[in-house]
Order: sequence, then structure tokens, then C-alpha cells
Amino acid sequence: MRIGLLTGGGDCSALNAAIKGVAKSLTTAKNTEIIGIEDGFLGLIEQRTKPLGSADFDGLMSQGGTILGAYNKASPFNHHGENRVQQVADYYHHLNLDGVVVLGGDGTMSLCHALSAYDLNFVGVPKTIDNDLMCTDRSFGFDSAVSIVAESIERLHTTGKSHRRIMIVETMGRYAGWLALYGGVAGDADIILLPEYPYDIDEVVRVLQKQEQTNRHSLIVIAEGAMPRDGQLVVDQTVSDSPDPVRLGGIGKFLQKQLETRVKSEIRTTVLGHVQRGGPPTAYDRLFATNLGCYAARMVLAGQFDCMVRVQNGIMSSVPLAEVANHSRTVPEVDMTLVGAASSGISFGEPGLFERLTQQGDERTFHQY
Ligand code: F6P
Repeated sequence: MRIGLLTGGGDCSALNAAIKGVAKSLTTAKNTEIIGIEDGFLGLIEQRTKPLGSADFDGLMSQGGTILGAYNKASPFNHHGENRVQQVADYYHHLNLDGVVVLGGDGTMSLCHALSAYDLNFVGVPKTIDNDLMCTDRSFGFDSAVSIVAESIERLHTTGKSHRRIMIVETMGRYAGWLALYGGVAGDADIILLPEYPYDIDEVVRVLQKQEQTNRHSLIVIAEGAMPRDGQLVVDQTVSDSPDPVRLGGIGKFLQKQLETRVKSEIRTTVLGHVQRGGPPTAYDRLFATNLGCYAARMVLAGQFDCMVRVQNGIMSSVPLAEVANHSRTVPEVDMTLVGAASSGISFGEPGLFERLTQQGDERTFHQY
């Protein structure tokens, strides 16, 4: 059998571990030829592929990036204004592929589902630092990014403390607050501002002024998709020819400007940016990506296409791409990390949030993802 492998969208840590997991499982179970597709869907459009052999998978477990290359702007449905779907389908059949395993986020899964209508076989593997894919509790790459955010915050705490400054840290995550929330709690932030809760600037100022009274520095984590109440998203740039052209960024500096006239302390803003996607994966992500890859291989062998591997409540299974496509998953109010953070006094820039999250009483259950 001949199976293609493709990394869709932006890169993240543990892509290579997942590639190894898929390829090794397939080649061990059955005599399978693995065809690497270069630079995401661009490789299918421009017909750039390479056969992968066992030597290609050596040392991949801990390696950041992707050996296949990444490109987050290509869609066969609209490539520089042209529909290239038929050409991609012809190329897929010319390669004599039985299917393609695609490691990607929500845009990639939506694309795979749309292409499945053209008789192309896809199995999806959930990958994104944003952790915003539907129907799965986790995506690989997220844990590594959370660790980077937490470690960066720890470093900013010590310099912030020395100077008694207010430190603002802007994280990635698009329209979901997972990365800011988990990284912020693990890094011991004082205030975490998420897209899910447009912040009340008066509440943020109140918390900061209270900290100033005790001469304490403050650390604010703000997700790139956060916004003030009655405000709007801050867009860094619009990328032409991308299926998802909006690149968020700049809310950290915006918040700094909002605060400057209202607090006494000096303020510094750090945008973590692509540091969150680079470097070696955590041990958790290595194992998780490998297991997802192994399960995806099982799906290929079972002929279970137009589906994505997912994990829910600790159980790995498959879900139709139709359920995953064209949605995204934000932080729910039953998230234990959110509730735990609010209980321990972290402010989310929304007065009364803790009371609201816990108002249904002790019998309410929460999700530990
Ligand atoms: O989806 C992953 C992500 O890193 C987002 O968190 C971020 O908004 C975006 O990609 C950045 O994209 P680019 O690599 O094109 O700047």
C-alpha cells in the first residue's frame, strides 16, 4: 500500500514524533511505502513529494519543526485565484496513493473534509499549539507550547520583581484562550486575559493598584485574541492567499497604553510569538504525538478515512471530519484549570467570574483535560 504524509498549516513541536509514529506503525504492520508530501498542501499543488525510508525517521522523536516542511497559505480550492482541486486529485491518483495522513489544525481538517468529496482518502491527526480543534480534548504541540509560555513567564517574573514593574506577556492561540490560560496558570500569573472573557479595564486596574499598595510587581498574560469590553480584536497583518488570512497580534501593547495613565508602575510588554512553536517537544507531547500517529496508522489499515483520531476522557478513537470541520473549540466554563485559577484569586478581568463559575454548587463536575 502507498500512503502519503503531509503536515498542514503552521508547524509546532512534536510534528516529527507524529510522523515517525505514523510511518513506523504502517511499515511494521504491513509492507507500506510512505510518500512525504512537501510543504503542506502546496506540495500537492506543485507536485513535490519524496519517498521516505527508515533512515528518514532516525532521531525524529525529539526534533522540532517538520522534516516535510510547512506552509500555512495553500488551498487547492483557491491557489492564487485558481481552483486546483482536479489537478490535485489527478496527482494523488498518479502517485497511486491509498490515502494521506494529514497532521493539522482546524483549517487543515476542514480542507481534508472538503477534498474527501473528490474521492481522496484522508486521516487527520490533531496538531496545534492553539488546542482549539473540535471533538478532541487535546492536540499535540499544545503541551510543549504551554511549557514554553510557563518558563518564559517565570523568567519575566524575576526581572519584573527586581524592577517592581508590571509585565505583560502576549501569547498566541488565535480565538481561543487555552494557551494563555494553561501557560499563565502554570507560570503563576496574576491576571490572565482570554478571548472568552472580554476584559473590563477598570477591573484590571483595580487588581494592579492593589498589588502596587503592597509594593508587589504584577504579571499579566494576555492571549492574542483577547479584547476589551466594547473593543475589538487587534490584527497584526492580513496575509494574502491564505485560507485564514488574519494574523492576530498587538493586544499586549494596546493594553499597556490603556494602563499607562492609570497605574504608577512602569510597564513592559513581551510578545512570545513563534518561540511558542519552536524547539524540542516535551516528553508528554512526544508520547502523545506518537500514540496519535500509531492510532492514525490503524485507521488507515482499517480503511477508516474522512476521519480524525481524537482523545476524549482519556480514550483514543476516531471521529468523522464532518464533525470537526469548520468549528473551533474555546475554553468552556467547566474547565478545571479555569475554575481552579479563579478560585485561587487569579483575575480574568471580569468581576464576579468566580461566583458565576461555581454558582451551581459543589455537586457540579469540572473537566480536567
Ligand atoms: O495556529 C497556530 C498559530 O501559531 C496561531 O497561534 C497564530 O495566531 C498563528 O498560527 C501565526 O501564524 P503565522 O505563523 O502565519 O504567523
